[in-house]
Amino acid sequence: MKDSFGREISYMRISVTDRCNLRCKYCMPEEGVENLGHDKILTFEEITRIVKASVELGITKFRLTGGEPLARRGIVDLVDRLATIEGVKELTMTTNGILLGEFAHDLKKAGLNRVNISLDTLQYEKYEEITRGGNLDDVFAGIQAALEEGLTPVKLNVVAISGFNDDEILDFVQLTCNHPLDIRFIELMPIGHAAAENHEQFLSSQEIKKKLPCLIPQEQNGVAEYYRYPEALGKIGFISPMSCHFCNDCNKIRLTADGKLKPCLHTNQEFDLHKALKTDDDEMLKEAIKEAILGKEDRHHLNEGADPIQRDMNKIGG
Ligand code: GTP
Ligand code: 5AD
Ligand code: SF4
Repeated sequence: MKDSFGREISYMRISVTDRCNLRCKYCMPEEGVENLGHDKILTFEEITRIVKASVELGITKFRLTGGEPLARRGIVDLVDRLATIEGVKELTMTTNGILLGEFAHDLKKAGLNRVNISLDTLQYEKYEEITRGGNLDDVFAGIQAALEEGLTPVKLNVVAISGFNDDEILDFVQLTCNHPLDIRFIELMPIGHAAAENHEQFLSSQEIKKKLPCLIPQEQNGVAEYYRYPEALGKIGFISPMSCHFCNDCNKIRLTADGKLKPCLHTNQEFDLHKALKTDDDEMLKEAIKEAILGKEDRHHLNEGADPIQRDMNKIGG
């Protein structure tokens, strides 16, 4: 269905848990965050009902996010349930990749189409530093498993951070030359508690492009603008929510692990689905989802001094 600004909403991001096996610096404070109690988290039955109702409203693409989606117990079962719903045309996941070596085979078998993997550095010590303890080898094993199982195209999401990974741009680009991997540089967004600390680390897509002569423009697809190096196996994408926001073409709505619909990543506006979920009335659930879609604002106002949202990234799912 269309929102109030005529945009067709066809994509739902579903955060299945706020828990994570990492504590990335731009995402969580050092001490971690208080996690939602199990009783607050949507059950698989509830998520399935929401997806069925959303399909009837014209949503066809679903992405499972977290926290870390593979940290949710029974995640393969959820993929299985969602993949078999008629009308779900694309079922994908954004993961930090740590557990993907273990899960890739079962996820593919259950019906997951592809994965995007978050990876901000290719250096062991820096990875451990930014994730506060992660082991890069686990991610490499996850990437390899995803490629082998055909969870493709595999996209690597690299949050561009000045003073942290700006010296690795060429290393990431080199990966696209030798491997069938798409690399996407994402502009750091001020979100939740970390917003106050990260504004000096901002690195625009424009600045990265300056370091990369000879990029051959490809298509714009979703939020990313793509390029390729001659002969390269993978593409290079830029996601520029800050310098060149893509709200005019937004097709998304987000479901949080505790059952709220967020019409936009950068809004504090939330539509609670619990009232409808407590009943067996699927029409009521559809009406609640419709209300959230119609409540979607035209765009975010971060570049005009709007305050960052309060929810931390791990409680939204990107
Ligand atoms: P594809 O379906 O492969 O294109 O994935 P995707 O880009 O939709 O999903 P992914 O989870 O890989 O998101 C990549 C980055 O883009 C994350 O940092 C998201 O927070 C950011 N992003 C995705 N959608 C939006 C959006 O609507 N607004 C903003 N501001 N950022 C977004
Ligand atoms: N700005 C930009 N991207 C972010 N992500 C998490 N926090 C931020 C932020 N503040 C990215 C993750 C992941 C995706 C879901 O969102 O790296 O790839
Ligand atoms: Fe976990 Fe992703 Fe947040 Fe990192 S960015 S702490 S991997 S949810």
